[in-house]
Amino acid sequence: MRRALEELKERAFSDIAAARRRDDFLAVKTRYLGRRGLLTELLRSLKDAAPEERPALGKLSNDIKEAIARRIDEILSAIEETSKSEARVRERIDVTLPGRGVRYGTLHPVTQVMDEICHIFSLLGFSVAEGPEVELDYYNFEALNIPKDHPARDMQDTFYIADEIVLRTHTSPVQIRTMEKQKPPVRILSPGKVYRPDSDVSHTPMFHQVEGLLVDTNVTFGDLKGVLTFFSRKMFGEDTNLRFRPSFFPFTEPSAEVDIRCVMCKGSGCRLCKQTGWLEILGSGMVDPELYKVVGYDPEKVSGFAFGLGVERIALLKYGISDIRLFFENDKRFLDQF
Ligand code: DAH
Repeated sequence: MRRALEELKERAFSDIAAARRRDDFLAVKTRYLGRRGLLTELLRSLKDAAPEERPALGKLSNDIKEAIARRIDEILSAIEETSKSEARVRERIDVTLPGRGVRYGTLHPVTQVMDEICHIFSLLGFSVAEGPEVELDYYNFEALNIPKDHPARDMQDTFYIADEIVLRTHTSPVQIRTMEKQKPPVRILSPGKVYRPDSDVSHTPMFHQVEGLLVDTNVTFGDLKGVLTFFSRKMFGEDTNLRFRPSFFPFTEPSAEVDIRCVMCKGSGCRLCKQTGWLEILGSGMVDPELYKVVGYDPEKVSGFAFGLGVERIALLKYGISDIRLFFENDKRFLDQF
């Protein structure tokens, strides 16, 4: 029996030596030391041994069992240790790698153009005045000489909030709000959002306007031309020429629409200017005396001019963009270009 035990020990150690992976070692352990393992099997014949030899044989088999178990456990914990340290290497964070980089946003092109317009007029002493986007019918229409049944109401489709409350269709109501609060001289610029139920390549239901108003004594149409010429040249280049076309607005008399020489073809005619050589950029005129009566100014003593321009339109022309809706789709590839 002693011989059989020694042999078993030898075979176990050579199986251990042949094993490679964790599972192999566990299998060896079960094969020899398990409840139905080879060693347990062998110990069954212990009862056949001479009684005086049994204690020594018992001790020997225990020693063998421990030796095998110890060897396998050592190897298993070594394997454990190695895989842990491999994982540590694999998962280590390399703090010297370059970072992800912060991507900075920019001001929206419409905001940039609006800021630029305000800056140019500030050079002439205009300061910014603002008004509400949810506006009373009174300021949006009535006080601007557009009574309820006036055909000019058809010029602007309107979002109604309630009977007497609208989303302002233009920034002109700020003219009235300013004159109500302030005595002449008045020299303001009013940038902001306006709303009309319109949507196509050149219209969006929300867009931006900048309104200008100057009221003082002895203000003439010549002053209006000078101011708008100064603005256009700063905005589109010193060689920009203007054309004033007679027009109609209920709040100005006389009224004019203003065109600039086409920024693309410089006047020879192209797709952008529809072969006319001119691009309309704003509406303007001398403040209608009716407005002075509404706000309590004396039409005999003061005179002034007003103008209103669409910011998106200016931005389209400045950057050569063909579809106004691009401004509001929030496509980063488009916005990143500004
Ligand atoms: N409010 C006009 C519009 O939205 C634009 C306009 C025209 C404003 C003439 C003015 C002006 O101040 O004098 O169509």
